[in-house]
Amino acid sequence: MKDAQAGGYAVGQFNVSNLEQIRAVCEVAKALGSPLILGTSEGERKFIGLKQIVAIANVWQEETGLPIIVNADHSRSFETAKDACDAGYMGIHFDGSEFPYAENLKIAKQVVEYVKSKNPDAIVEGELGRVLGGSEMHTEAIALKESDFTDPELAAQFVRESGIDSLAISFGNVHGVFGGRLEGSERLDIERLKNIRAKTGETFLVLHGGSGIPAPDVSEAIKNGIVKVNINTELRIAYIEYLRIALHRTGETTPYKIWPTVIDAVKKVVEEKIKLFGSGNKI
Ligand code: G3H
Ligand code: ZN
Repeated sequence: MKDAQAGGYAVGQFNVSNLEQIRAVCEVAKALGSPLILGTSEGERKFIGLKQIVAIANVWQEETGLPIIVNADHSRSFETAKDACDAGYMGIHFDGSEFPYAENLKIAKQVVEYVKSKNPDAIVEGELGRVLGGSEMHTEAIALKESDFTDPELAAQFVRESGIDSLAISFGNVHGVFGGRLEGSERLDIERLKNIRAKTGETFLVLHGGSGIPAPDVSEAIKNGIVKVNINTELRIAYIEYLRIALHRTGETTPYKIWPTVIDAVKKVVEEKIKLFGSGNKI
């Protein structure tokens, strides 16, 4: 993340919950020479298993020689953040954005204290402002209120008082994609980002809801201080679309023979994103 900040690029966090998705993401990162963050929401990690994904990522790291971090994406409580840390996660995202500010700050501090006492090298991400929506296809655009956006002054205070390494911010980004279009109506407020960047120093700024944001906006955000971009929905859509096609077209009963076209479809999305983030050839 420090290298990304100095080099003006961003590291992609790609959300996964099974071996096929992990394979797709790791193979592209290897081919492009990119550092990598594997993201797992509370639901995703409950499905694959916390210790299991840490072990699998370690094997891919060993085989590819890439720096690979597993991030506990959107941990909504101290307990779920702690569980991920105990299982060996090197990235912990505590998302207290639904709590009042004081509660968010209090738990973020506890998470930092706990994680750093267990593993000083682990990265803790906090969240301030509300990144709305889930990682899915929405039928209608989500309207943002002023109170959903991250306030730059409050962000500075939150970072200072919590001790977090990274901050997820809300500046026009929402989770998911809209109206069946991959590039939806999301536009980023770059002026707000510049303001947050100016006030939060070396804190790593994170763009959530990376799916569906027009590429020029993502590039502009990276130029102005975003060093991590999270992608989930576009991977899910590619995966499910091609799985449906694969199952529909063949009478195949050998499971591993169903996956190559699905993995290829996910790989295309990952490749496009890594190129957009500029993290290729950085190893
Ligand atoms: O935390 C996960 C990301 O923010 C995913 O957002 O589904 O819009 O790509 P996305
Ligand atoms: Zn997110």
